[in-house]
Amino acid sequence: MYKLSPSLLAADFTRLGGEVQTAARAGAHYIHIDVMDGHFVPNITIGAPVVKSLRKASDIVFDVHLMISEPLRYIRDFAEAGADIINFHVEIDADIREGLRLIRGLGKRAALTIKPATPAEAVYDYLPDIDMILVMSVEPGKGGQALIPETLRKAERLAKVISDNRLDTDIEMDGGIYLENVTEALSAGVNVIVAGTSVFRADDPVAAVKEFYKIFEDFERGQ
Ligand code: DX5
Ligand code: ZN
Repeated sequence: MYKLSPSLLAADFTRLGGEVQTAARAGAHYIHIDVMDGHFVPNITIGAPVVKSLRKASDIVFDVHLMISEPLRYIRDFAEAGADIINFHVEIDADIREGLRLIRGLGKRAALTIKPATPAEAVYDYLPDIDMILVMSVEPGKGGQALIPETLRKAERLAKVISDNRLDTDIEMDGGIYLENVTEALSAGVNVIVAGTSVFRADDPVAAVKEFYKIFEDFERGQ
């Protein structure tokens, strides 16, 4: 089952609640929330209090992407604020397994994120213990960048390892995905698509979400 996770980073920040509702109404399964700390990545974005406020706007699945140096310090805050899926980066200098245990202990779905330059092998050992692997297809830190083609090969390798080991780990891809290139991600084995600019900066975000789902259906039929 293919899912779309529109990224709020490209939304209108003067009306975030309404933007979440628009995506949910259009049929998106998840909403992707990018958290940056100005340290792991240069920018600073959204914190747990904003997530908590947004939780009142919709019951859509919150797919929270922590681009922060010390995720273990904040996992509880985001879980209590209403995150459903919590992604943190495998590149951090901390106990990854402890982070995953913390997330699952709070009853949330655990996901690991991998930057473009990090080899797929860095996450192999964790695959049985995560619900989703988030493959960054751009350098994390800002929206509107172009997808790095090599990351599609990495998604393919991960999809093979997942299927060879009979795991059911989801593969999400994040960055530079548009209606024009999303099929390449699906063909690489990705089943959760993050789309920021291509949804929220579209003339009609509702139509954009529907277009993505139409492509997903066509792709599924062709399989
Ligand atoms: C980048 C973020 C992405 C970003 C994607 O650091 O993790 O989620 O919002 O934006 P687009 O889809 O515009 O590349
Ligand atoms: Zn993201």
